[in-house]
Amino acid sequence: MLPLLIKEIFTLPPGQDLVVRGWVRTKRELKNLVFVEVNDGSCFKSIQCTFDCSGGDRGIFSRLGSLTTGASVEIRGKLVPSPAAGQAVEVQATELTVTGEAPAEASGDTSAYPLQKKRHSLEFLREIAHLRPRTNTFGAVARVRNRMAFAVHEFFQARSFQYIHTPIITASDAEGAGAMFQVTTLNLEALAAGSPAGGAVDYSQDFFGKRAGLTVSGQLEAETYATALSRVYTFGPTFRAENSNTTRHLAEFWMIEPEAAFFHLEDNMTLAEDFLKSLFTAALNGCADDLAFFDAHIEKGIIETLQSVVDSRFTRISYTNAVAELEKHAGLFEFKPYWGCDLQSEHEKFLTESVAAGPVIVTDYPREIKAFYMKQNDDGKTVRAMDVLVPRLGEIIGGSEREENLERLEGRMAELGMNKADYSWYLDLRRYGTVPHSGFGLGFERLIQYITGMANIRDVIPYPRAVGQAEF
Ligand code: 4AD
Ligand code: MG
Repeated sequence: MLPLLIKEIFTLPPGQDLVVRGWVRTKRELKNLVFVEVNDGSCFKSIQCTFDCSGGDRGIFSRLGSLTTGASVEIRGKLVPSPAAGQAVEVQATELTVTGEAPAEASGDTSAYPLQKKRHSLEFLREIAHLRPRTNTFGAVARVRNRMAFAVHEFFQARSFQYIHTPIITASDAEGAGAMFQVTTLNLEALAAGSPAGGAVDYSQDFFGKRAGLTVSGQLEAETYATALSRVYTFGPTFRAENSNTTRHLAEFWMIEPEAAFFHLEDNMTLAEDFLKSLFTAALNGCADDLAFFDAHIEKGIIETLQSVVDSRFTRISYTNAVAELEKHAGLFEFKPYWGCDLQSEHEKFLTESVAAGPVIVTDYPREIKAFYMKQNDDGKTVRAMDVLVPRLGEIIGGSEREENLERLEGRMAELGMNKADYSWYLDLRRYGTVPHSGFGLGFERLIQYITGMANIRDVIPYPRAVGQAEF
């Protein structure tokens, strides 16, 4: 049998002899009794182990001294009903093994364990990202992340979307935003030394024989499979070298991108709305203890908010109507809204919090501010784009119906100065058996931010990568 986890111990009937394994959170002493809270991260709760030292077991008593916060232990004992409030069971401890000490004070070349009992700022914890999963907050974030990753697969598998793996290294800039990290094996020092004036680089000498980079999106490759398997999704890491130092942007983040053939924008919106509601429901049902913690300590009311989104109908509004609404309140904004502008955070906030009081799907954006692949409307000005905005956070999903007409797509690419030859495989999807199709991208970290109420995106991924930051 595998070693028992604490979450499993909580499901056992009292009376059992067992071993508790984990890390000490706290220790309290009261007369002859020593209370030790042990946590193993398998669930939010710690289990209390009580040592009764009145019997005079000096062996255990001497070892209790090294039971400091952070020490790892194996404690043998009996599961008994707990007299204390707030816990049904506790362990009457009889044997103790300290597997690893965590000194409370510096000694020799070992410094004190940094996570002492007091509260730590999130900024400080970011500096010790390798230890922060041992805190309540980051343990809870990690469990919610895990549950949500599973829920993503449950949602799509139940709807016959097939999981595909799209490349991480690619030569095509799917979003055309020029935010790709370059991948090269060229000797940069030698290039720099040989070319002080900055001559042209011969990429035929590079590893892939051409300029390559880290993917900004798996969409274009997902489209190739959607036009063969009908419904697919990707779920993988994506990279953007944007110089945006905000609480909502990472240089490396995870994205879920469904893509479906014979889906029009309306189907895409329905899928996105059902998807978010299903994820929130899974969080409410599957992470109740963790969410209760976020509700009490991170963002008051988060549980009620998630439930209200599940029960709501998302408001659908065209970009043109949204801008008209914003223009009526232009005085409220630092950045004056006008038709053609990219929506700013303050505009998204107004739309979700004042106009709709809930999630909003904005559609049919001006073509100039959206990617080349979006289906063009007959008005010649707008495209079949959709962004899902949520209160507090703004954009959580971006997607569109794709341009399935070869001439129109080629025309748009020419306007943008894109090289047709680089995308010939993508254009083939329109040359052979083209179909209307649509998809979207959900930023996984934005989702986790929304569910947990964590204010900074760097606190919902184990090791954040952002401008000037690639520690661990
Ligand atoms: O709106 P975006 O750029 O859309 C795409 O990449 C499309 N190819 C998706 C598709 O249609 N298949 O990005 C999608 C989502 C955003 O709505 C946001 O949630 C998240 O990805 N996102 C980021 N998350 C963290 N850090 C960043 N720098 C992000 N950029 C986008
Ligand atoms: Mg977007």
